[in-house]
Amino acid sequence: MTPFAGKTYWLVGASHGLGREIARQLADQEARLILSARSEDALRKLAQELCNAIVLPLDVTDTDAVAQAARTAGPLDGVIYNAGVYEPMRTQNWDSGAVLKMSDVNFTGALRVLGEVVPGFVRQRRGDITLVGSLAGYRGLPASIGYGASKAALVSLAETMRHDLKDSGVTVRLVNPGFIKTRLTYKNSFRMPQLMDPEDAARHVIAAMRSRRFRTDFPRPFSFAINALNLLPDWIVYRGK
Ligand SMILES: NC(=O)c1ccc[n+]([C@@H]2O[C@H](COP(=O)([O-])OP(=O)(O)OC[C@H]3O[C@@H](n4cnc5c(N)ncnc54)[C@H](OP(=O)(O)O)[C@@H]3O)[C@@H](O)[C@H]2O)c1
Repeated sequence: MTPFAGKTYWLVGASHGLGREIARQLADQEARLILSARSEDALRKLAQELCNAIVLPLDVTDTDAVAQAARTAGPLDGVIYNAGVYEPMRTQNWDSGAVLKMSDVNFTGALRVLGEVVPGFVRQRRGDITLVGSLAGYRGLPASIGYGASKAALVSLAETMRHDLKDSGVTVRLVNPGFIKTRLTYKNSFRMPQLMDPEDAARHVIAAMRSRRFRTDFPRPFSFAINALNLLPDWIVYRGK
C-alpha cells in the first residue's frame, strides 16, 4: 500500500513532459487522477494507458472554465499545479503577448486553481498541495523575462501559504526543478547543466510528495549553485555589466 493509494489528485498540466510522467508514476502508486490541460487528445491517450484516471480538459487562463472544472472534479485529496509555458526572451526583445501569457499560465493560473480548491481544503482541515515552480524563480536570470518573474511569484505564493497553513491540516509543498528535457527546453540554444529526463524529474516530484519537506530543489549540485547566487553581493553578480 502506498501513501497515494485510493487518493484523488487533480493534476493540472498533465498532457506532456513532466506532468505526464508525474501522472504515470502516481498511477503506478495507485492514485486516482483527474488529468487537466488544453490538449484533450493527449490527455485521453494518457488516461487510456493508466488505470483510475479521468480527463478534464481545461485552459487555466479561463477563470470560468477553472471554476466549472473544479465543480466537475468534485472532492479531492490533493492538487498538483504543474501547468507552465516558457519563451526565452531578453528585455530588448520584449514580446508583450508572450510575457503576459507566461504570467497568466504559470502564476495567475495557479491562483485560479487554488482559489477553487484551497477554501475546501481549509474547511475540511485536510488536503495536499504541490506547486511546480522552477530554480529560475530564485534569482532574476538573463533572457528570462516573464518566465522568471512568474516562477518567483509562485515561489513567494507557496512560502506565504506554508506560513499560513501551518497546523491547519493542509500540506503545501514547492518543487523547483532545474532543466528537464521537454518541449519547453527544446527552445533553449545554450548548454543546460544537469539536463534531466522527465522520468527522472518526476521521480524527484513523487519523492517530494512522499516526504514532509516543504521545499524540494533539484537536481543537486545545480540547485546549490543557483541558491548560492543569492548569497553573492550585487557588485559580484553584475560585475562588468
Ligand atoms: N522543462 C524544464 O526545464 C522545467 C524546469 C523547471 C520547471 N519546469 C516547470 O515544469 C512544468 C512542466 O513543464 P514541462 O517542461 O513538462 O513542459 P510541457 O511539456 O510543455 O508541459 C507543460 C504542461 O502545461 C500545460 N499547459 C500549458 N498551458 C496551459 C494552459 N493554458 N492551460 C492548461 N494547461 C496548460 C501543458 O498542456 P497543454 O499544452 O495541453 O495545455 C502541459 O501539460 C512547468 O510548470 C514548467 O515551468 C520545467
